[in-house]
Amino acid sequence: MPRIPTDAHAPEPPGNSPDLRETGTDFERLAERALSRRGFVAGGVTFGAAAFVAAAGGPRPLAAPASDSRFGFEPVAANVLDTVTVPKGYRWHVVARWGDPMWSNAAEFDPKTRGTGASQERAFGDNNDGMSLFTKGGRNVLAVNNEYVNRRIAYPSGKPESADDVRKGKAGHGVSVVEIAERGGAWSIVRDSPYNRRITADTPMEISGPARGHDLLRTAADPRGERSLGTWSDCGSGRTPWGTYLACEENFNGYFSSSDPALQIGHAFERYGIGLEDWGYAWAAVDERFDIAKHPNEPNRAGYIVEIDPLDPASTPKKRTALGRFKHENAELVLAANGRVVVYMGDDERGEFLYRFVSDGRYVEGVDNADLLDSGRLFAAKFAEGGRGEWVELAPETTGMASAAEIRIHTRMAASAVKATTMDRPEWVAANPKKAEIYCCLTNNKNRGRKPNKGGDPTPVGGPNPRAGNLYGQIVRWRPDGGDHLAAGFAWDLYAVAGNPAVHSDANAGSRNVTPDNMFNSPDGLAFDSNGMLWIQTDGNYSNEDGFAGQGNNQMLVGDPATGEIRRFMVGPKECEVTGIAWSPDRRTLFVGIQHPGEKGNSHFPDAGDSVPRSAVIAIAREDRGPIG
Ligand code: FEO
Ligand code: CA
Ligand code: CA
Ligand code: CA
Repeated sequence: MPRIPTDAHAPEPPGNSPDLRETGTDFERLAERALSRRGFVAGGVTFGAAAFVAAAGGPRPLAAPASDSRFGFEPVAANVLDTVTVPKGYRWHVVARWGDPMWSNAAEFDPKTRGTGASQERAFGDNNDGMSLFTKGGRNVLAVNNEYVNRRIAYPSGKPESADDVRKGKAGHGVSVVEIAERGGAWSIVRDSPYNRRITADTPMEISGPARGHDLLRTAADPRGERSLGTWSDCGSGRTPWGTYLACEENFNGYFSSSDPALQIGHAFERYGIGLEDWGYAWAAVDERFDIAKHPNEPNRAGYIVEIDPLDPASTPKKRTALGRFKHENAELVLAANGRVVVYMGDDERGEFLYRFVSDGRYVEGVDNADLLDSGRLFAAKFAEGGRGEWVELAPETTGMASAAEIRIHTRMAASAVKATTMDRPEWVAANPKKAEIYCCLTNNKNRGRKPNKGGDPTPVGGPNPRAGNLYGQIVRWRPDGGDHLAAGFAWDLYAVAGNPAVHSDANAGSRNVTPDNMFNSPDGLAFDSNGMLWIQTDGNYSNEDGFAGQGNNQMLVGDPATGEIRRFMVGPKECEVTGIAWSPDRRTLFVGIQHPGEKGNSHFPDAGDSVPRSAVIAIAREDRGPIG
């Protein structure tokens, strides 16, 4: 195994600098120190060996004993088992699976047909992703995104072949709002709960905010541009202090196609990946609003954040255009000191951007805050070498675009116009509840330093995107100046650079807090618990071979922001992604999403024998019923 040569210039690893061992230290000073290590990057010197990897035989401070740690568990080893692995003293069980009926008059899941349009409309959706738990009067209601449908699993032939197949596909998408209860020590769906609701690709939505009524949003069915049908490709999530759920539309483009093979695809469609063909869902064959030759404005009505009141099943979800249109990952909401609502958001595509929304209005507890997300300013992040960064407002004056509405519809072009920093696929953003500090997973980007983004913006190696052809990903964090989420400036560093120190001796070994014992790739889901510990979920290469040897299945880890230490808490089943996290009100149950187990045909999770693999929400608890996080 190649080992890493000692490098006298090796700086402190980003997650382990002495400054970070204590809270409340001078982040500016830290950023200045970071400058010197990033000088390596700017200078074109191989990044990782110098900057992030412990020298051979050198100290690995993060392997310190657990006695003083804030982790309440012993780490689990990587594995390739077709089950969930949790630490000693913990247990897990399934709460809800794709196809589980939410009403007692709905059909049970049929593993032969994998359901019909009618059964899916009354059952838990497929590919659960972001989620949040809402509690009212002692009842627990889980809102869960159903990002997409695994066609090779959902359809016995591997693809939709009938109108009912398309109906089933559209119903497998969207959001499941479902009451759950703990009975006999196990959580499960409360069938027929008045809170149960399926939101699908056909559910009526209201379009609100600056783009409402804009010419680009008007269609034959909705000449005023104020109402649309459905949400799909909802990936990560968010929640507001006023009790609503945010579903974030990500890969909305893959559902549109053209009946005219000669249709010219304009720049705006190209930027968002809308083309002549869909990704195999065949929705346009049954529902012509997905045919861009007939309804060219329909794609402009997707790609937003959708606000849903999970405790009012009769409410109409609202597409909040003020937060911009892009491939939304999640929405992390914090309140600024003066009550303004700040939402941090990533656009998950290679070389796209990080965004911040700041509301015009202020949140005041107990009054009507319902439409705070309809009016505000939108910014894109610019990272400089040396650990400094700034938020640049996307306004007509800065972008040259005609209006706030146009900026909200063609947000990617607006951010390109201000030369925001092209990022390595921003996934979930998470705010530290203990201090003004924000983290974001940059999952990977094979095009870094090699290809521009879809808008032609260069993707130079450097700053928070330090590796060419980045296969492993990293977690960037920033602290707003003065601890004020409204500040224009921030200081940033890299909390962790994923890699494989058992295989690589260069930048691909990762940061020092990544070891052969905790290594992972492609961080994606990200959330803080109430103790200020950072939960990291992965959606990466699970081959367990070559550069990924020893990393096993996708997994969930916990990071200590103060020390940089990272421990593996859970390993998912084969071919899954771990995404979505929520806690019960007493924090004794941790809900976690297992998405697309067996996506290539090699899992039977969560059921036994030769069953069809099914995405699921699981519950994890300590055997002693103590709190988790
Ligand atoms: Fe749906 Fe970017 O993950
Ligand atoms: Ca994701
Ligand atoms: Ca991902
Ligand atoms: Ca996914």
